[in-house]
Amino acid sequence: MPQSRIPPSDVHDTPLAQAGALIEQTLAGARPRPVVTSFFDEATFTVSHVVRDPGSDACAIIDSVLDFDAPSGRTAEHSARRLVDFVGDHGLTVEWLLETHAHADHLSAAPRLQGRVGGRIAIGAHITTVQETFGRIFNADMRFARDGSQFDQLFADGDRFRIGGLEAVALHVPGHTPACMAYVIGDAVFPGDTLFMPDYGTARCDFPGGDAATLYRSIHRLLALPDAGRLFLCHDYKAPGRDAFAWETTIGAQRAGNVHVRDGVTEAAFVAMREARDATLPMPKLILPSVQVNMRGGHLPEPEDNGVRYLKLPVDAL
Ligand SMILES: [Fe+2]
Repeated sequence: MPQSRIPPSDVHDTPLAQAGALIEQTLAGARPRPVVTSFFDEATFTVSHVVRDPGSDACAIIDSVLDFDAPSGRTAEHSARRLVDFVGDHGLTVEWLLETHAHADHLSAAPRLQGRVGGRIAIGAHITTVQETFGRIFNADMRFARDGSQFDQLFADGDRFRIGGLEAVALHVPGHTPACMAYVIGDAVFPGDTLFMPDYGTARCDFPGGDAATLYRSIHRLLALPDAGRLFLCHDYKAPGRDAFAWETTIGAQRAGNVHVRDGVTEAAFVAMREARDATLPMPKLILPSVQVNMRGGHLPEPEDNGVRYLKLPVDAL
């Protein structure tokens, strides 16, 4: 049975209604349609996106990656350099460096990129909750501010911003982490780790502050957006039977076929599936370095008196 576009419980969800209207207007040709170029980092299965205004040189970079070799403790900028080169080759002006959340599987390159190409670093306002939680786990001293001040902009649900002539709406979509954001830019939606490709499903919810029922509700906000809205995902791991990486789909394709949350899957069924699956997953290889750096806005901890920066490994704490 066809469902109405915005479920009755969400009729008064103004941020969602605004995001839906933005997508409809863009699809109708009344607003510029963003040009999206994506860069896949095979080491961490992360997709970084450059989102351009077709009418100007303005762009935003979403979810960049700083290479990190855990055995040696060395960082490198091979992944970030592809973004810098692309921006330079096309004469783009970077207005925003957007983070969908504090990633647990890769270090953000946002501060390094800011030094090279500029742009304001932004994340969801609930990053302060993540900073409190992980500040405690890492026993960070008081030089680590838990107020989000490492970022240039903290977005609340429904906040609007522009990339040149492109309109954007920030949506708070907690569940995978408490601070996750989806960015709706023209007809394009960047849901972070809220959704993966339809044949792969959804992200885990078992990190500190994660919650499967909360993720289900956040996903259903996004699934109430227009079916033709384009979705650009943050990760892909290939699904069984698929041998190419993929990261672009649509809201309609998710509603019709997402293996975890397609239309008709109840919250109770989703939570049972998600929690059972999460119980089998190992911790991501880079979770400890990633969270320690990303809770600081992508900055490494301050150097010690010998000039070297150190990352901690909390033992038996996660
Ligand atoms: Fe994530």
